[in-house]
Amino acid sequence: MTRVFKLALILLIVPIIFGACKAEKAASVHDNQYANEIQNLLRQMTIEEKIAQMSQVDPGFYQSADALKEAIRNDEIGSILNVTGAENVNELQRIAIEESRLGIPLIIGRDVIHGFRTIFPIPLGMAASWNEELVRESAAIAAKEAASVGINWTFAPMIDVTRDPRWGRIAESAGEDPLLNSMVARAMIHGFQGDDLSNPLTIAACAKHFVGYGAAEGGRDYNNTPIPDYYLHNLFLPPFREAVNAGAATVMTAFNEINGIPATGHKHNIRQILRKEYGFNGFIVSDWASIEEMIVHGYSADGKQAAQQALEAGVDMEMASRTYTDNLKQLLDEGKVKMEWIDEAVANILYVKFQLGLFENPYVDVSLADSLLVHPQHLEVAKKLAEESVVLLKNEQNTLPLKKGTKVALIGPLAHQPYEQLGTWIFDGDENDSQTVLDAFIEFNGSNNTHFAEGLKYSRDQSTTGFSDVSRAIAQSDVVVAIVGEESILSGEAKTLAELKLPGKQEELLVLAASKGKPVIMVVMAGRPTGLLQTQHLADAILYAWHPGTMAGPALANLIFGNSVPSGKLPVTFPKGEGQIPIYYAHNMSGRPATADNWVHIDDIPVQAVQHSLGNTNHSLDYGFTPLYPFGYGLSYSSFEYSNIEISDNQIQVSETLTVTATIKNTGEYTANEIVQLYIRDLSASYVRPVRELKNYQKIELQPGESKQVNFTLDKSDLGFYKPDGTYIVEPGKFNVWIAEHAETGLMAEFEISE
Ligand code: GLC
Repeated sequence: MTRVFKLALILLIVPIIFGACKAEKAASVHDNQYANEIQNLLRQMTIEEKIAQMSQVDPGFYQSADALKEAIRNDEIGSILNVTGAENVNELQRIAIEESRLGIPLIIGRDVIHGFRTIFPIPLGMAASWNEELVRESAAIAAKEAASVGINWTFAPMIDVTRDPRWGRIAESAGEDPLLNSMVARAMIHGFQGDDLSNPLTIAACAKHFVGYGAAEGGRDYNNTPIPDYYLHNLFLPPFREAVNAGAATVMTAFNEINGIPATGHKHNIRQILRKEYGFNGFIVSDWASIEEMIVHGYSADGKQAAQQALEAGVDMEMASRTYTDNLKQLLDEGKVKMEWIDEAVANILYVKFQLGLFENPYVDVSLADSLLVHPQHLEVAKKLAEESVVLLKNEQNTLPLKKGTKVALIGPLAHQPYEQLGTWIFDGDENDSQTVLDAFIEFNGSNNTHFAEGLKYSRDQSTTGFSDVSRAIAQSDVVVAIVGEESILSGEAKTLAELKLPGKQEELLVLAASKGKPVIMVVMAGRPTGLLQTQHLADAILYAWHPGTMAGPALANLIFGNSVPSGKLPVTFPKGEGQIPIYYAHNMSGRPATADNWVHIDDIPVQAVQHSLGNTNHSLDYGFTPLYPFGYGLSYSSFEYSNIEISDNQIQVSETLTVTATIKNTGEYTANEIVQLYIRDLSASYVRPVRELKNYQKIELQPGESKQVNFTLDKSDLGFYKPDGTYIVEPGKFNVWIAEHAETGLMAEFEISE
């Protein structure tokens, strides 16, 4: 009997045989196109089968592959993570469908964070491209490649706003701004899921980590996150609202504890905000063992209470830990959890499985992978996104671009590291696919013009024995290109650094390079803002490349030799040092704002100065009040002139729309892209608003000498904010609006929202 026929029979006959048995209707099973099929399945499922759907396991939990298969056969598993291989997945799926009692297919999850086999820049780098379409395309490619080996669910996008570059997972985020994180959320969810989740080359997305994970105190991963509701609603929640609006199929809860309650047990955030207010109708998975970790947090007395709290809070599926499997049946018997909560969780999970088409087409076409993985077209997109993610921070005397044929000393511990350039979270990336900077320089500029001496074997290398080779290489060259930064393992989960500096002897390497009297171009590959205060004076030009992925080499060669022009802009503020953290553009004014002429540097304080004789303003005596590089900053080989800001009206009603325009001229010699940013400031409100808020942007291409008028509109959806209770409000009063190159500059206009 075929699987489809068997399932049809069950769905058709069982209700007849058992009459319209009045199984308890699962409360609030979403009214979706699969509601009947879901209800029919729920009516037949035993409690054990229901709990199995709520459990996700790693194959490593089982002594053998056969033990895993037996567990599937016995309806003990609804989802598996970290299993790949089309044939392997098909076999597990076959057992679930043909050998378990009800034949419910498995959902197969995997961290496909910034590419599957073709690796794109880390998400922080993707955000630096400000190119929503290209980010979407990268996710669509990742979905095709992942789906071709049997994965149908990714644990991405990670959209945790963070203002702390010490936090290793900033690498996986879109940085400090809620609008950019919302852009990445939308782009990746549309990319992964396409417009038909049943398409076999799409996969379910997972917006994570809900919520506030990026606010970890001290930047230390998993640390507590004290977040006042006002900031929860205006800073950390907006990307998740956007993710729900983009149709995210799943959401993952976070490890952190918010104001005393673990995110994974936070009933208000999950059931009230995510479900009721945002209307999320997919399923919610815990993070790895984050339910069981509520015991460690000191929130749950034991696994049984953790299971009860997580289910009551609304977590549908438990990843990795087994508190649901071990306790839900007993909790149900004791009346401590309701069957409707279990039915609702299972219904949410089944809904996504139906959406994925797993009941009709559970198997993957095993021939797909060969034709899809690292397809040349995929690599082309990876190269373009890597190019657009790179930020030009400095370019004295137009050191860049170099002319082809220039003799280059290519140095540094990341110049030829096919693995390290991929960045964090690359489970399925293959370093053999990587094209390094050395590869690309030789290909583009010739081996006779490329004098390679890494100087250090890896970023943390303390040995300078390679420095003599570096000196020799520089002696034969016109310029130095130093590829420095962090090994990929130094960012990502649980990789917090208290100090933002280049590890190992990289500063010494740059000092050596700068001592030779030839132009030094510094390229930084890292998972966070790092290491520039102590080194940037040693370089004539600086390209910040994040970890650019498989095509790091061709992308950087194109930029360095002028085949393409840098257009990236910072998605995160670069502090002068960790002592400034947190420092970010959307800060509040304070009652004593620092300005260029009202702060005093520590060296300028007179001996025995009188206590209040100095600038009593919001700054540090040593670092002042501005960062090293502001949010939104990035140079080009060309230059741009902003002029003629105009506003459609200086006074509007709340219900009206405002248009703001300006003229942008390419005053340089290169065709180039410019990311034009729109910021506002609400000058007085019932809750103090930030000095700037990014509200929109446009990435425009301009030929040399060309001018374009950029048009932005603002309406009430842009001009309001959330009160601590989550109510959105637009208040009358005065506003500033900027059209700007970055968060510290721009043309300004003023308008007022009238009563
Ligand atoms: C990890 C991460 C999460 C990831 C999950 C599965 O601990 O926090 O982002 O998706 O476990 O690997």
